[in-house]
Amino acid sequence: MRGGSGLDLLIFTDNPGTRETRLVHEEALRRGLRVEVKTPWDLSIPGSLPRDMGLVYVPSNMFHRGSTFELVNRFLILEELGREAVIINPLMSLLRYSKEHLTLKAGRIGYSHPRTLVTESIEKAYEFASELLDEGKDVVLKPVCRARGVGVTRLSEIRCREDLMQFLAWYSRRHGAGVFYLQEFVENRGYDVRVFVVDGEVVGRMKRSNPGDWRYNASRGGVAEPFEDPVYDELAIRVAEAMDLKITGVDVLPGKDGTPYVLEANCYPGYTHLMAATGIPIYEKIVDFFQRTLKR
Ligand SMILES: Nc1ncnc2c1ncn2[C@@H]1O[C@H](COP(=O)(O)OP(=O)(O)OP(=O)(O)O)[C@@H](O)[C@H]1O
Ligand SMILES: [Mg+2]
Repeated sequence: MRGGSGLDLLIFTDNPGTRETRLVHEEALRRGLRVEVKTPWDLSIPGSLPRDMGLVYVPSNMFHRGSTFELVNRFLILEELGREAVIINPLMSLLRYSKEHLTLKAGRIGYSHPRTLVTESIEKAYEFASELLDEGKDVVLKPVCRARGVGVTRLSEIRCREDLMQFLAWYSRRHGAGVFYLQEFVENRGYDVRVFVVDGEVVGRMKRSNPGDWRYNASRGGVAEPFEDPVYDELAIRVAEAMDLKITGVDVLPGKDGTPYVLEANCYPGYTHLMAATGIPIYEKIVDFFQRTLKR
């Protein structure tokens, strides 16, 4: 695909063993692309950065799981690689990736999103939570950037209102890392819909429900089934575009009244459950997109 000695595709990841990464790697090799998998500890500055590449694909969240020093190192490596290569997802979208970014965009481009507050102030978190609880609503607390339902908690699980401040302090230490993301609990139809978008097109959808938990994530025991209805496609494409995500899984929670609440646009979406539920080879769609990009 590319002339010279360069690579077509560099898969840059701090978690090279995932099934998704292997599938994309093998598919790219099958199609004759020159591809390598590198981790942040394979590359050192200034000497060993690969040159003359077409594409850099970042399939794992290597910015938010490490230290801030690792974040800066990885950001600078990617910025340098990005001088020549296309980075997917785009570098700034990787850096901004958080539920907070989605909340900001919701306000700006106007899709339905539950009432949400993001704050570093425990007092403001307390006020917001109390207000919702006083209205008889339940409140969901989430880490701004983690997946698979980890740390997603409902305040109704606390013993009494007197425990609220103590609980918030504990939550911040355990899951929040100093930032509170509080959201109104949306009464819903018992399922959410994951819409998988690649390069502005929907390539797969699934519906998730969970008889044992209000969190429908597969990792919490949620059950996935195909969702054939394209009703949320346009919304998901709009969200992907607003977040500047070329590969994303958009989570839509249909409220009881049918309002589709956008909960998340995942920057590093897994898709083994989606493939199992639908039979769609998502990794092929991803490599199709890479080949289109390399030809541009
Ligand atoms: N505001 C809410 N109201 C009702 N249910 C919610 C709300 N927020 C989250 N949930 C439930 O919790 C699940 C997990 O929440 P969410 O998708 O926001 O986080 P996550 O799955 O950890 O993150 P990611 O989607 O990045 O993997 C949702 O699929 C949904 O079932
Ligand atoms: Mg989710």
